[in-house]
Amino acid sequence: MHIYLASGNPHKLREIAEMLMRLDTTVNLYSAEALEGMPEVSEDGATFEENAAIKALAIQPLIPRGAWVLADDSGLEVPALDGAPGVRSARYAGAGATDAANNLKLLHELEGIPDADRTARFVCVLLLRSSTDEIHRFTGICHGRILESPRGTGGFGYDPLFQPEGLESSFAELPPGEKNRISHRAKAVDRLARWVSLQV
Ligand code: IMP
Repeated sequence: MHIYLASGNPHKLREIAEMLMRLDTTVNLYSAEALEGMPEVSEDGATFEENAAIKALAIQPLIPRGAWVLADDSGLEVPALDGAPGVRSARYAGAGATDAANNLKLLHELEGIPDADRTARFVCVLLLRSSTDEIHRFTGICHGRILESPRGTGGFGYDPLFQPEGLESSFAELPPGEKNRISHRAKAVDRLARWVSLQV
């Protein structure tokens, strides 16, 4: 099965490729660079599903017949902030914001919020779309809480502020590979891999 990832984010490509390799699937994963690169799209959908669909559609016309596009949309939801940053996770502190700026804004918004109310969840929606418009969706959720200050240097995005449920480390402090076993994206990829294994 040939799958083109509708993302220009090298972290995601690496994470998803590593997960699929570990799951020993029959997937050949290609980056959007193997086509004409990932076009600029405005991720202005109201949900992760809508944004994933926007990204998938952006490169679907470029993929070879019989191949698939995989689009990922993900983000962090904090109930104490009414679900923010949510679909705006990448641009929480403004268009083109750095991870550091987004993290600072999150800490600022949560100032004075007691530990018990700092729960959060990462959500990942994977949308698989074929060259003939067959569509499948796979969702993964990772529960945790937002720390008082950043910890660790691994990963990307909100990783230094996110402590997954049941662990003492932040996502950014976990040894390489460990995040990719428990993350929202890992759970969604597990579901994708299970579906792939059922195809002939
Ligand atoms: P998108 O899915 O590329 O539109 O952006 C999702 C945004 O959510 C990223 O830019 C990060 O800020 C955040 N995000 C998604 N997944 C993760 C993760 O695994 N760790 C940290 N931040 C993440």
